[in-house]
Amino acid sequence: MTAIIDTPEAWRRERHLQVRTGLSLGFVPTMGALHDGHRSLVRRSRQENDRTLVSIFVNPTQFDDPGDLAKYPRVVDEDLRMLREEGADFLFLPGETSLYADGFRYRVHESERSTVMEGAHRPGHFDGVLTVVLKLLSIAGADRAYFGEKDWQQLDLVRGMVEAFFVPTAIVPCATVREPDGLALSSRNRRLSAADREKAPAFHRLLSTSSTAGEASERLRESGFAVDYVEDHDGRRLGAVRLGGVRLIDNVPLRGQS
Ligand code: PAJ
Repeated sequence: MTAIIDTPEAWRRERHLQVRTGLSLGFVPTMGALHDGHRSLVRRSRQENDRTLVSIFVNPTQFDDPGDLAKYPRVVDEDLRMLREEGADFLFLPGETSLYADGFRYRVHESERSTVMEGAHRPGHFDGVLTVVLKLLSIAGADRAYFGEKDWQQLDLVRGMVEAFFVPTAIVPCATVREPDGLALSSRNRRLSAADREKAPAFHRLLSTSSTAGEASERLRESGFAVDYVEDHDGRRLGAVRLGGVRLIDNVPLRGQS
């Protein structure tokens, strides 16, 4: 049974009882529209902890484009069904005013790694992500929190923030879950037209098989993608493209690296 909790205070009381009885907690923050990528995080948390808490909050401060925020799928009933199937113990569903009682006057800003790639294309995005993740981690009081490698730059920035602010939660990276044709699962995939869905797997394929980032960009453009960036950093190749107005991101290890 997945119990729904909608205020930080109610969760605090619950967590207090768990801590008193020595129960470990895993936490999976999400924005809902759950798919098998999210499911893999919940499974991992269930394996490694006595209790698992999942949050669903479509965080307005991380959307640089109001149209994207408006179009973000909200399907809590379906999500709850999946969480029950997976045996998640708690779903935290906070309202906007309970998370942002300060009206976003206080925010977390990282000044180097958040300015490139996603940060360069989505101004303010990572301030919104880091701020909400710090709030959620502080509320959850978890031993471990699970993040997908699909959002590599987000994972890297969250790890850095947790270290910088001495947050007592271990950040656990989880491998990207893909469709059989290689497309990384994303809640945005459902907005692809049938023709674009056919084209989409070339994104992962060309990132993986091109010998340089420049070559990957060129081949992606030739295949009909609008390319925001492809860059190599620390042994990985990261990219973002647009296909018929739907933005996709992905990253792969460079050959010979893991
Ligand atoms: P959301 O896009 O819902 O993703 C929630 C978590 O699921 C993230 O850690 C993300 O990296 C992971 N995830 C998404 N697709 C995945 C896939 N195909 N394989 C493995 N993991 C995948 O990321 C966010 O929400 C938000 O920015 C959030 C961290 C919740 C802050 O608002």
